[in-house]
Amino acid sequence: MASAACEPEPSFPADYAKSYVEVRNCRPSSEHDSHLIRVLASPSALSPYRDRDAGFPEGAVVLKEERDFGDVSCSGPVLKWTVMTRRSEAAGVNGWLWETVSAPDRRIDVKETNSTRCTGCHAGCGRGPDGFEGTCAVP
Ligand code: HEC
Repeated sequence: MASAACEPEPSFPADYAKSYVEVRNCRPSSEHDSHLIRVLASPSALSPYRDRDAGFPEGAVVLKEERDFGDVSCSGPVLKWTVMTRRSEAAGVNGWLWETVSAPDRRIDVKETNSTRCTGCHAGCGRGPDGFEGTCAVP
């Protein structure tokens, strides 16, 4: 049965700020539309992202808050989230599900899901020594 109300849910909870930890603080990102960004890790992504001591487990989330380029202290509203969620190859590309989610309505931009724009760029920068398992930044 078709249901118009059946919107897919983003892979991070609406109240992620309660449990996710900031791993990179407010700064501009030339590769992400020159937005001001913060990066947060879900509990199971925290030590792999920060310490690179183990691989990311299934379901681990690395989330990037993106704000207007003028918001130099990241105190204003989030424009969108770009999100990497650890997933088997079947659901993702290069081990991750890639998503863009608009704020504040948490609507997934389906055109960007697993888009080659994300995966192509991260395939290049997501390798050592700077990258790790598809993530691109030294924490
Ligand atoms: C032009 C290259 C480029 C494109 C396109 C791109 N990224 Fe990134 N991304 C980067 C780089 C470089 C970083 C790390 C430095 C920074 O934050 O600017 C990064 C950081 C991230 C992070 C924080 C974790 C980390 O350290 O890698 C997430 C999450 C992310 N990108 C998701 C996405 C998603 C989802 C898309 C597609 C909607 C995307 N990116 C498109 C280059 C890119």
